[in-house]
Amino acid sequence: MFTRSTVLALSVALASLSAAPTTAGQADDAQALRDHYELQDGKRLYEEFCRFCHGEQGKGKAYNQVSPPPPDLTTPAVQRKSNAELGNIIHDGEPGSPMGAWKWTLSEQDKRNVLLYIRSLAR
Ligand code: HEC
Repeated sequence: MFTRSTVLALSVALASLSAAPTTAGQADDAQALRDHYELQDGKRLYEEFCRFCHGEQGKGKAYNQVSPPPPDLTTPAVQRKSNAELGNIIHDGEPGSPMGAWKWTLSEQDKRNVLLYIRSLAR
């Protein structure tokens, strides 16, 4: 059974939840929602276009019949590269390797989102 003080604590908590949020709070919420959406979209794109080679959650060597084999994207060796470097590789591919250019398939926003997802896999 709820004690009277539990009920009181719950109603205080509910009252503070329904209190009008500050403008800054609303902006934070909107940003958090956008970040969440972009990350989920990046995951969807990754699974559609990249997982075949780079493996479940970027851990690499899913498709290792090619040379060089697809690298593990979660390692520091990859993660320490800048967004610009990794973005260029996604855009243009690595000439002479199985890593193709995605500039015709993915929009600027898609490439940002997929990179955001790769960043989220860092170990
Ligand atoms: C056909 C297999 C294949 C697919 C599909 C593929 N990759 Fe790759 N990727 C590779 C290989 C192989 C390399 C290594 C190239 C090299 O070392 O020259 C690579 C390298 C990379 C690198 C650079 C890693 C580093 O060490 O600098 C990134 C970033 C990357 N891929 C992201 C992606 C993304 C994002 C997608 C999907 C949009 C994707 N790859 C799809 C095979 C693939």
